[in-house]
Amino acid sequence: MLENLTKLSYQTCQQSKNYFSLGHKILSTQLQNLLYPQQQPTKRVSPEAIAKLQNRLNQLLETDWQDTQKGIYPESVLFENEWQDFFAYYPQLCLDLPQTWARITQKKYQAFSPEIDQQGYPSYYLQNFHHQTNGYLSDLSANLYDLQVEILFGGTADPMRRRILSPLKGELQKFQQQPQKQIRILDVACGTGRTLKLIRSALPKVSLFGVDLSPAYLRKANQLLSQNPDDLPQLLQANAEELPYLDNYFHAVTSVFLFHELPAAARQTVIEQCFRVTKPGGVFIICDSIQVSDSAELTEMIEGFAKTFHEPYYQDYTKDDLIDRLEKVGFRNIETQIHFLSKYLIAHKPL
Ligand SMILES: C[S@@+](CC[C@H](N)C(=O)[O-])C[C@H]1O[C@@H](n2cnc3c(N)ncnc32)[C@H](O)[C@@H]1O
Repeated sequence: MLENLTKLSYQTCQQSKNYFSLGHKILSTQLQNLLYPQQQPTKRVSPEAIAKLQNRLNQLLETDWQDTQKGIYPESVLFENEWQDFFAYYPQLCLDLPQTWARITQKKYQAFSPEIDQQGYPSYYLQNFHHQTNGYLSDLSANLYDLQVEILFGGTADPMRRRILSPLKGELQKFQQQPQKQIRILDVACGTGRTLKLIRSALPKVSLFGVDLSPAYLRKANQLLSQNPDDLPQLLQANAEELPYLDNYFHAVTSVFLFHELPAAARQTVIEQCFRVTKPGGVFIICDSIQVSDSAELTEMIEGFAKTFHEPYYQDYTKDDLIDRLEKVGFRNIETQIHFLSKYLIAHKPL
């Protein structure tokens, strides 16, 4: 009875996030069209694709719930909402929209304020990804990011991130049987730290590490993760193409929503680096967008996404052979999963 009530609360909570996001998108698109009527109307998604998406969404939420029942992570994780951030930053997100629309209309995709230090970053990174003001390089961007992603995915960003937890926990079991071993997990492109926080909820005793190129996003991650100061992950500013760690150091490496934001050559280098720092017998888990080969019926939507949200490397990503890239560097026994709009690759480094 209590179990059913908790499940119902979770479904209701997710549904309200979905409706809120939809409402926000409808209103903001109407306002944008009013202010900038020259904008091309976005293509409508077919009823078949919508039905397919709804079905996948239901499956995602069911799997999320089932994983709590299997003890992969506690039920309480399903209800962790950053309400403080929502009330603090939703008004700022709305206030930021007019300048975002102006940039879109002027086709300005690499616009940074003069106070933003652009030195030392790879050129592919200096973009207004998702039309974000100052790309990944400001505290405002870091503060708004999670909310923007929640709205984009209708509240399913964390349920999608959580799909790495079951394979991760399963793969690490073999190491946990060795009592003296301290398990180390690295999250590559950890952003605002949400994946690290979720890993902590499933694996409270492991040592966590995170790297990202953005100092502002790392500050935000530090803020989120220091809610539990005894278990603070070690966060470093670094390019994932040059991971500052010893060879064979981590029992597991994860990366969530990074690869679609890298040009092909950088994608390969990052995979090489992840292979280098993973221990033999360890695992590398990627979570990223679905690709065209995974969902032919969603091709139009996938192609529209790159244009609508300024994702300059996304189109190439959607046709990339990630398994081939992983095998090229030495990963083997690669398992693929699809959950809602995300794809998961679970790659093993041979002993
Ligand atoms: C779409 S966000 C994903 C963030 C986070 N993993 C999540 O789940 O929300 C992409 C992240 O990748 C980081 N990033 C992009 N290129 C990078 C690189 N070459 N090295 C390290 N981080 C990078 C960005 O700073 C940003 O935080």
